Amino acid sequence: MTTAVEHYDRFLAEHYTWMLGGDPTALVAGQRAELAEWGVVPGEGWGGGSGGSLAVDLGCGPGYGSLALAELGFDSVLAVDLSRPLLDELAAYAAEVPAVRPVRADVRTALRELVRPGSADAVVCLGDTLTHLPTRGDAAALFGAVATALAPDGTALFGYRDLTVPLTGTDRFLPVRATEDRIMTCFLEYPDDYDDYTVVVHDLIHTRERGDHGNWAMTAHSYRKLRLSHTWVLGQLRAAGLHVVREDAGPGGMRTVAARRAP
Ligand SMILES: C[S@@+](CC[C@H](N)C(=O)[O-])C[C@H]1O[C@@H](n2cnc3c(N)ncnc32)[C@H](O)[C@@H]1O
Repeated sequence: MTTAVEHYDRFLAEHYTWMLGGDPTALVAGQRAELAEWGVVPGEGWGGGSGGSLAVDLGCGPGYGSLALAELGFDSVLAVDLSRPLLDELAAYAAEVPAVRPVRADVRTALRELVRPGSADAVVCLGDTLTHLPTRGDAAALFGAVATALAPDGTALFGYRDLTVPLTGTDRFLPVRATEDRIMTCFLEYPDDYDDYTVVVHDLIHTRERGDHGNWAMTAHSYRKLRLSHTWVLGQLRAAGLHVVREDAGPGGMRTVAARRAP
């Protein structure tokens, strides 16, 4: 079984922006509206250090969140990911956005290695990146690193899917997107070997070949995701010294949680 990052590098990266709707400008605008709505904006008095206000986007992918953070006015946005093709995509978008700094690093160590304790005005980890980590211990340790990196008035924002309730039968087939020449479907498998710890995600992509009578070809690739219960996440945030200020539940188990350093 490949790791999550290998899955992106070898398979999903070339489809990722298409998967999200295909329009980078609209994706940045959507992220910007969501971040502003959750209060992730540079505030007065932020960025007391000489470098100005700092935001960190953990698992940035092609960086629509990072670009949105720059548009919202953060002076510096550290965009962290391990996927080279996705970081290259972000670097192309960010060529004229000097605030965004794409960095190839592991989110499990990036804050400790790249961010001075107490200096980040915002740390975001969105789009289900948390469930891509190898173990629950990694997610718990990440919360601790976020608490250490955050400035006293800083905000952390996490977005992830609670996949603890197993889907059954045909509900396990999840249509992702379909356009004239490409169709993506996801199939979830709940293996016995890890009990309730992980789910195997099989991504299936059909593409219509050019010429050749428009035949369809299917490619498939699989990786494991963590099954993090929302209750567990809330407990771990608390244990890490983060105080939840707002949370929301969306379709498909999606959860969004904003937190600050506990007083
Ligand atoms: C579902 S994507 C989310 C991308 C982006 N945040 C969004 O909302 O569209 C998950 C991202 O996390 C990255 N990732 C997974 N594990 C990582 C790790 N240990 N260190 C750095 N990046 C990681 C993947 O390469 C991928 O770009």
